[in-house]
Amino acid sequence: MNLQNLPGQPHFAYRGDALYAENVALAALAQEHATPLFVYSKASMLAALAAYQRGFAGRNAQICYAMKANPALGVIQVFVQAGCGFDIVSGGELERVLAAGADARKIIFSGVGKTRAEMCRALDVGIGCFNVESEAELEVLNEVAQSCGKRAPVSIRVNPNVDPKTHPYISTGLKGNKFGVAHERVVATYQRAHALAGLQVVGIDCHIGSQITQEGPYLDSVDRMLDLVEAIEAAGIPIHHIDFGGGLGINYDGDEPPKADALWAKLLAKLDARGFGARQLMIEPGRSLVGNAGVCVTEVLYLKPGEQKNFLIIDAAMNDLPRPALYQAFHEIVPLRPRAEATATTWEVVGPVCESGDWIGHERVLAVQPGDLLAVLSAGAYCMSMASNYNSRGRAAEILVDGSQAYVIRQRETIEDQMRAERLPYPTV
Ligand code: LLP
Repeated sequence: MNLQNLPGQPHFAYRGDALYAENVALAALAQEHATPLFVYSKASMLAALAAYQRGFAGRNAQICYAMKANPALGVIQVFVQAGCGFDIVSGGELERVLAAGADARKIIFSGVGKTRAEMCRALDVGIGCFNVESEAELEVLNEVAQSCGKRAPVSIRVNPNVDPKTHPYISTGLKGNKFGVAHERVVATYQRAHALAGLQVVGIDCHIGSQITQEGPYLDSVDRMLDLVEAIEAAGIPIHHIDFGGGLGINYDGDEPPKADALWAKLLAKLDARGFGARQLMIEPGRSLVGNAGVCVTEVLYLKPGEQKNFLIIDAAMNDLPRPALYQAFHEIVPLRPRAEATATTWEVVGPVCESGDWIGHERVLAVQPGDLLAVLSAGAYCMSMASNYNSRGRAAEILVDGSQAYVIRQRETIEDQMRAERLPYPTV
């Protein structure tokens, strides 16, 4: 790999032989804040957002950041200040976006298992839309809204039965998935929603999967959605907005997903051709806004050459970077300061967690010594958000870089933090 150009991460680059995030050397951050350490580039997030904004220029569109990708308050605040709305999936996510200053009216609430308490709180703060995922949820939301004297704004999440051609765990719009209301039940579900006094139909929603790298599934789902909007409106129920979900992929391993602006030019041409170009549009991108805006800096602890495999043991593990263990995902791994003199070896890059599933990279060719620092790339999405305390490891610190400034947006979790909510049942002796 050409070390001058990190794949898809233009705001992370080598200057001389040191890797920088914008104008800040990653090694200096590691020295000050220790490792493992997540470092995010604000400029990279804004550049990713700008691609969508260019795509929607002159349109009536709302970009709702799917904050599950990276829910750090400091990251959410970047998107609040950029005018985004938010796609949330839990009461916890609701409190986070509110704490970061989001406008409640720009919040949409997705998810198959919303509780009554979550619905109640979301109604209280006045969110923009509930993306309802089943007929049963519709009835409960109606009850909850009526009991607090409100009308809940709703979209029905449609399962368009489109194959997003991605990892099965992150496909969501196929018939066998738990998400959304089946295509053939949609009109009847809208008729029911329209008849319930506690609900107000405002839109329609879909989300077909994640890390989608082809345009075909999007083009297919647009057609299916528009067919449904026509059928629902023919039944006398106006649809104010159309939400096409998120899912656009990023470059992890030479992937070449469509660019957000180019994709939307095509999708909008389809909408225009069918007379829906002036409709309010919503999208829920997560990964494509933050994935390539982050890296995880980690230190080489030990080299353990072996007969069959050579193990390179780093201080980041599956609890920090769960995607390889969960989805066999590929994350590029590069040195912060490449060694010219050392000969490269092929390594299994693994963490300290006590499981063979704790691997970060297979068969990586790296010239390294203990104490060297590495960066695991494209770690801005679904890494810290899925991090755990497995093996009682504290979660990493997070830094937001803005030009030459580096802000600590999350301190490293201490063991006291981890034990705070726990109680010993018996006196200690
Ligand atoms: N909207 C809904 C309703 C979703 O369920 C998701 C993601 C998104 C939007 C955002 O999708 P994105 O633009 O980020 O692809 N942990 C997995 C990804 C799970 C995605 C879940 N839903 C991974 O690490 O690949």
